[in-house]
Amino acid sequence: MLTVAILAAGKGTRMASSLPKVLHKLSGKTLLQRVINSCNELKPDKILIIVGHKSKEVEDSVLKNKNIHFITQNPQKGTGHAIQVLSQQVKKHEGKLLVLNGDVPLIKAETLKDLIKYHDSKRADVSLITSRKKDPHGYGRVFTENNRIERIVEEKDCNKDERSNLLTNAGIYCFSWKSLSKIINNLKSNNKQKEIYLTDTITLLKNSYSFEVEDNGELQGINNRVQLSECEETIQTLIKKKHMLGGVTIIHPPSCTISEEAIIGIDVIIEANSHIRGNSKISNNCKIGPNSFIKDTIVNNNCEIINSTIFNSKIMDHVKIGPYSHIRPDCEISSYSKIGNFVEIKNSQLDEEVKVNHLSYIGDSKVGKYTNIGAGTITANFDGTKKYQTNIGKNSSIGANTVLIAPVNLGDSVTTGAGSVITKDSQNNSLAIARSKQVNIKNWKKNKSKN
Ligand code: UD1
Ligand code: CA
Repeated sequence: MLTVAILAAGKGTRMASSLPKVLHKLSGKTLLQRVINSCNELKPDKILIIVGHKSKEVEDSVLKNKNIHFITQNPQKGTGHAIQVLSQQVKKHEGKLLVLNGDVPLIKAETLKDLIKYHDSKRADVSLITSRKKDPHGYGRVFTENNRIERIVEEKDCNKDERSNLLTNAGIYCFSWKSLSKIINNLKSNNKQKEIYLTDTITLLKNSYSFEVEDNGELQGINNRVQLSECEETIQTLIKKKHMLGGVTIIHPPSCTISEEAIIGIDVIIEANSHIRGNSKISNNCKIGPNSFIKDTIVNNNCEIINSTIFNSKIMDHVKIGPYSHIRPDCEISSYSKIGNFVEIKNSQLDEEVKVNHLSYIGDSKVGKYTNIGAGTITANFDGTKKYQTNIGKNSSIGANTVLIAPVNLGDSVTTGAGSVITKDSQNNSLAIARSKQVNIKNWKKNKSKN
């Protein structure tokens, strides 16, 4: 039987934030959710999350499943106190209890599995993950003899000699729950921070083992925003490396970010300052950027997206977008279409080979094949309370600066006169023109100057 406990009750004072520490995000996911995701892979019988500071916010942030339960620790008197509270609330202390700090977010399921295997092979009372760090600052120092741990001393309680020990505690422990429950209430708070330390269980238990792993960034704990950014870099480096080895050219990796979920085809070129976020899929031969932001969007083959922003949309093959286009959620842009300079499109379907090249707003609209939307066209979709639909047929030509007052329907092969304000539907093959006629007053300047 495997029970997991994740410590997430602390405030995270060193983050200097109104957000609880474990709710800060790395590549789109909270620290806590990352730890939970790794634990889910172990298929434990239960995951108990210890919450306290802003507990409702923390609980609400978690993707729930039936194995996940919350335990409240109030006030928070230290990591050992958190497990004391947990022990009191759980009746049966059977099998193994895997304890993880909620602020060590890059821990991999594989490493946890290895820890558990190691723990079983040693028949230990407790085994914990340790690593040798070049800069051990802030971590508890682990003192061992033949892999058995004698004691852990927190940085603040270390003397000069102890501080020079580079073997650190990662904050991830596998306990025999039976052994732990015998001593958990004997922990004291006679240390600099006057806290009850979970690390003191090591000395109280007989068979305490160090499971040392190489420090590759996976065990980095996050106490402040410098460490947060270091972990972000660790994740991003891995993601970008994976894509580059898979056939994606990233011209300037340090200025680009990619979500873990993103799928990117081969021969895609990502130029500087470009970001592919959320559940996006970019297919083969696309050119993204410079300066593009694409979130939760599917982009098919051979598209070009320069200096543009796209949210939650679908872009078919051979589409060109930008520079300076903003595609807002729920758009579908069909093959060979072109969206150009300073164009905003929202909740609209554009059929094949549609052109919206300059300075337009197209919202809640359907545009048929081969239609050209002239510069400065606006679909006026909002009357102050409700949004309305605009439909434009195929092969149409919307004159520059046309305002289409929705709801309005234009048929196929309709032309609108430049500068028209279109308020009525228009049949196939017609010219819709709605503007005052030009009046030429002869000798206007001459007459004026005479007066
Ligand atoms: C802890 C370890 C240290 C280890 C380091 C690894 C102790 C005493 N020290 O130090 O040896 O090297 O992690 O990253 O355990 N929490 C609670 N309730 C509390 C206090 C903390 O749930 O009362 C939670 C926090 O929200 C956090 C985690 O426990 O997620 C660790 O607490 P933190 O204060 O960050 O411990 P460190 O000083 O980093
Ligand atoms: Ca910490």
